[in-house]
Amino acid sequence: MKVDISKYFKPSYKKARKRIAEIDYLDFSFDKSYQNLGVGLNYRIQTYGCQANEADSEIIAGLFEKMGYQKAKDEKDADIIILNTCAVRENAENRIWGELGRLKSLKKTNPNLLLGIAGCMPQEEKVVSRLLNKYPYVDLVFGTHNLHKLPEYIKQAIFTKERVIEVYSYEGDVIENLPKVRDHQYKAWVTIMYGCDEFCTYCIVPYTRGKERSRAKKEIIEEVEELARAGYQEVTLLGQNVNAYGKDFESGDYTFGDLLKDLNDTAIKRIRFTTSHPRDIDDKTINAFKLEKVMPHLHLPVQSGSNKVLKKMNRGYTKERYLEVVKKLRKVRPDISLTTDIIVGFPYETEEDFKATIELVETVNFEGAYTFIFSKKEGTPAYNYPDNVTENEQKDRLKRLNTVVNKGYLRGSKKFLNKEIKVLVDGFSKKHDNILAGYSEHNKLVNFKGEASLIGKIVKVKITEAKTWFLIGELCE
Ligand code: SAM
Ligand code: SF4
Ligand code: F3S
Repeated sequence: MKVDISKYFKPSYKKARKRIAEIDYLDFSFDKSYQNLGVGLNYRIQTYGCQANEADSEIIAGLFEKMGYQKAKDEKDADIIILNTCAVRENAENRIWGELGRLKSLKKTNPNLLLGIAGCMPQEEKVVSRLLNKYPYVDLVFGTHNLHKLPEYIKQAIFTKERVIEVYSYEGDVIENLPKVRDHQYKAWVTIMYGCDEFCTYCIVPYTRGKERSRAKKEIIEEVEELARAGYQEVTLLGQNVNAYGKDFESGDYTFGDLLKDLNDTAIKRIRFTTSHPRDIDDKTINAFKLEKVMPHLHLPVQSGSNKVLKKMNRGYTKERYLEVVKKLRKVRPDISLTTDIIVGFPYETEEDFKATIELVETVNFEGAYTFIFSKKEGTPAYNYPDNVTENEQKDRLKRLNTVVNKGYLRGSKKFLNKEIKVLVDGFSKKHDNILAGYSEHNKLVNFKGEASLIGKIVKVKITEAKTWFLIGELCE
């Protein structure tokens, strides 16, 4: 029997496309009645997708711990499991559907287990319909705009024994002072803005994350100062398009480059940011790479090297504009490491267009790239574009591109051979327990022998070996 979904607060692409809602700036409040709901119980969060989801999962963990829950040792030990999902490509979604099927069996051994789906997938119309009709054992469904309401949803699910489904299609308020349990001790995500107004024709994110809205500079600076006081060394500023920071404010005269300057004056040692948009990156931001604490690495997604394809993607820049930005960046910071995102097999992409992408990758000398085969996302304009690139062609192009990209990774590593570089030590390497691992200023993974007392410190390491994906070195001090 098909479930009547009209009674649930469900997503709508049509509403999600609108960009007129007023945004409220609010402080998080926590009702005392939620305080002990989780005492004696354990939570587990499985996070998929980008840094936005990683940052959201830290908030979900914060909410759980405020309710008295503790982190589960493993899935069998969990009383509630939340999958914080990604909708950006179909294969990412298929993984989640498979995982849901697998988790169903846990309910047999623990009938009180609550299973929840959060993040970007529930923001899609078809996902909520499918969850309602085919996954009756999923107890909680909420989206990216209302995760702060999780305590309320849990209370409702526990007391009514009914599934709770609430997804907003209009952007949420900007809520400050949400509790967080951070994943790392020395480096932290700091969200500076939510949403995306770019509407690249292939991308679902403007629908799942809503309109661009910036956090107040005062709140961001305070958060960074507080992190520095707590011993954090590095922050990564997050936004789908950080270069649009501040443009939604009435005055509009304080933008991303200004924020970088102000953060450079805080006590934090290292500043990174992601993601930048080649159309919006301005001279103020480019010049910020002169600042002492802004790290010399930029992830600048190009997507394609063909102007025709870039136009079909609605990226709003040409290959020439991209190369101009690269030139300016290298003038300001000659040693800057550049990485990128590329989609192959986009509709209309011919062999010639693809070759233009390869040529661009070689010209720019990227030191890394996330490469993807185009995935058709229902609700986006490119969903209706023709399928003129076959699956075999797509796979072949990805393979050829990756060969070029991997050479770039190795070249990027070799630059540091015999050099002394500064590394923020994260912890012991996953494979060897006497080998430390950390990231250099240029965002290279570095392994070297050292003691636990160095974890959380910035140390000098001399590079002795350069591999494609990491560097090996010796401690200098
Ligand atoms: N906001 C960032 C930007 O402007 O590039 C990145 C956001 S998106 C979550 C990360 C990457 O996923 C994109 O840069 C793009 O390369 C890729 N992507 C997004 N939609 C895709 C799709 N439908 N098919 C394949 N790749 C996609
Ligand atoms: Fe997606 Fe484009 Fe926005 Fe990035 S800028 S999130 S690719 S719509
Ligand atoms: Fe995925 Fe949502 Fe990020 S779709 S890439 S988790 S914004």
